[in-house]
Amino acid sequence: MRLIFPVPASGPAEPIAPIDPAAGGGPGIAQIARLYAYPPAAPAGPAAPAGPAAPAGPDGGGPGRPWVRANFVASADGAATAQGLSGPLSGEADHEIFSVLRSLADVILAGAGTVRAEKYRPVRDHEAYAGLRAGRAPTPPIAVVTGSLDLDPDGPLLTEAPAWARTILLTTEAAPADRRAAAARHADVVVAGRDMLSVEAIITALADRGHQRILVEGGPHLLGQIAAAGMLDELCLTLSPLLAGGRGGRILASGPAGGDDLPGTQGALSLAHVLEDSGFLLCRYVRRSDS
Ligand SMILES: NC(=O)c1ccc[n+]([C@@H]2O[C@H](COP(=O)([O-])OP(=O)(O)OC[C@H]3O[C@@H](n4cnc5c(N)ncnc54)[C@H](OP(=O)(O)O)[C@@H]3O)[C@@H](O)[C@H]2O)c1
Repeated sequence: MRLIFPVPASGPAEPIAPIDPAAGGGPGIAQIARLYAYPPAAPAGPAAPAGPAAPAGPDGGGPGRPWVRANFVASADGAATAQGLSGPLSGEADHEIFSVLRSLADVILAGAGTVRAEKYRPVRDHEAYAGLRAGRAPTPPIAVVTGSLDLDPDGPLLTEAPAWARTILLTTEAAPADRRAAAARHADVVVAGRDMLSVEAIITALADRGHQRILVEGGPHLLGQIAAAGMLDELCLTLSPLLAGGRGGRILASGPAGGDDLPGTQGALSLAHVLEDSGFLLCRYVRRSDS
C-alpha cells in the first residue's frame, strides 16, 4: 500500500509498512491510523442542527457534534453492490482499512437493510486493533436504524454482542411492541421518533450515549439521508478496479423525499488523501467547509 496523494514535493509516493494483524498491526497501523485520525472530540451534547456551519476537517476542530464518517466501496463503474452485496467489490486493502476505521470509531451505524443483507454480527476482536482503542472498550457497538424492528431478536447480532458493546437498535414508536420487548432482551432499544427517525435524532441518540466518532457503514438509503441533512462530514471510499455492470445502485440513494429531481448536489468534498494497493484506490474525502 502506498500514499499517492498528497505527494510530498520532495519525493516519490510514501510506502506504507504492511499491516500485520498477528503483531497488533505492526508499524503500518500507526501510519494508517494517523491518516484517518478524527478531529478532536466535540463536547458531549445534542446534535447541532444541519446548516451552513461545516466541519473544520481532519486538521482542525470538529463540527460541534459527533463527527460522522462513512466507509463505502464502489466499483470503477460506480456500483455499490454486485450480486446484491458489497463483498464482491472489496479486496485485501479495503478489508485492512475497514478494520482500522472500525478500531478508530466509537460506534458503527448501519441501516437495517444493510444489516439484513450483509448478515451483520457484532464487531469481532480481530477487527479492532487494541492499540487504537486506548481508554475505550475493546470493540465498538453496532447501532442499527430500523423503523420496523424486523430483525431476529435471537440472532447473533443481538445475542453475541459483548456486555461492553451491546447492539443498539434505534427505532420508532411505530415499531410493534412485541418486537421491541423481544429485542430488548439482548440489545439496547432506543425509541427516537414516531414513524421515521430524523438524522438529527439518530446522531443525538448516539451522542447522548457518549459516542463522538460515528462510522456509517451503510447502506445507500441511510447515507443519502445523512448527506441530505448536511451531516456527513467525511467519506472514505474504496474504488475497486472492476466493472460491476448490472443494476446495483450507487453508494448514495435518495432519502424519503428524494428522487432524480433533487435540486443541485448533496455537498462538495475535499480530497484529503488517496492510498493505492493492487489497483484499489482508497480515498478519504472531507466535506468542504463552504459546502
Ligand atoms: N458498497 C458499500 O460500501 C455498501 C455498504 C453498505 C451496504 N451496501 C449494500 O446496500 C444494500 C442495503 O442498503 P439500503 O440502502 O437498501 O438499506 P439501508 O440504508 O442499509 O437500510 C434501509 C433500512 O434502514 C431503516 N431506515 C433507514 N432510514 C430510516 C429512518 N430515517 N427511520 C427509520 N428507519 C430507517 C429501514 O429499516 P426497516 O425496514 O427495518 O424499517 C430501512 O428499510 C445491500 O445490498 C448492501 O449490500 C453496500
